[in-house]
Amino acid sequence: MEQDSKREMARTFFALWPDRQAQQALLRHGRDIHRLTGGTLARLESIHLTLAFLGEIDGARLEAARAAAMTAEFKPFTLSIETAGCWNHNRVAWLAPRHTPAELSTLVVTLEAGLRAAGFSLETRPYSPHITVVRKARCGRMDIAFEPVEWRVKEFVLVRSELDSAGSRYSVIGRWN
Ligand code: 2AM
Repeated sequence: MEQDSKREMARTFFALWPDRQAQQALLRHGRDIHRLTGGTLARLESIHLTLAFLGEIDGARLEAARAAAMTAEFKPFTLSIETAGCWNHNRVAWLAPRHTPAELSTLVVTLEAGLRAAGFSLETRPYSPHITVVRKARCGRMDIAFEPVEWRVKEFVLVRSELDSAGSRYSVIGRWN
């Protein structure tokens, strides 16, 4: 029994998942950054923007997360990714919007409220939307030409992450719009 519940534990998070064209454009910027920082470049199919990170949860909590997602306020919007940066503390190089669209703030606030009401403990630091493109980066100057990448956000998703020899692999297990 204990083994069964352990088997269904997995790292889980809500995210925005760019379409393939946007992922390709974002990864092009990622490659430019990677040339400056070294480290590990994200995989094309892994490029995403996290909304709320739930950590390792089991099947029962997954149902609670799905129920919370139903209470979140979502409206389609255009997300413009127009800046890059690098955090020394966790050696993550990222791409991000310069301004957080109101629809994105509303989505995160209402999603977090639903999740907290369902008993999830979430990150307490202010939400900082970003797309990780390089891990183990040597942060320095980010002198890259930045052509903004725009993508139409039509849904948000729930994702499970599994570790394999090449890193994390993500599967979308729920969609809301
Ligand atoms: P990161 O890219 O900044 O590391 C899957 O790991 C996703 O969840 C990634 O987008 C990752 O953000 C995010 N994530 C991992 N641990 C987290 C945490 N403790 N708090 C918030 N987000 C986290």
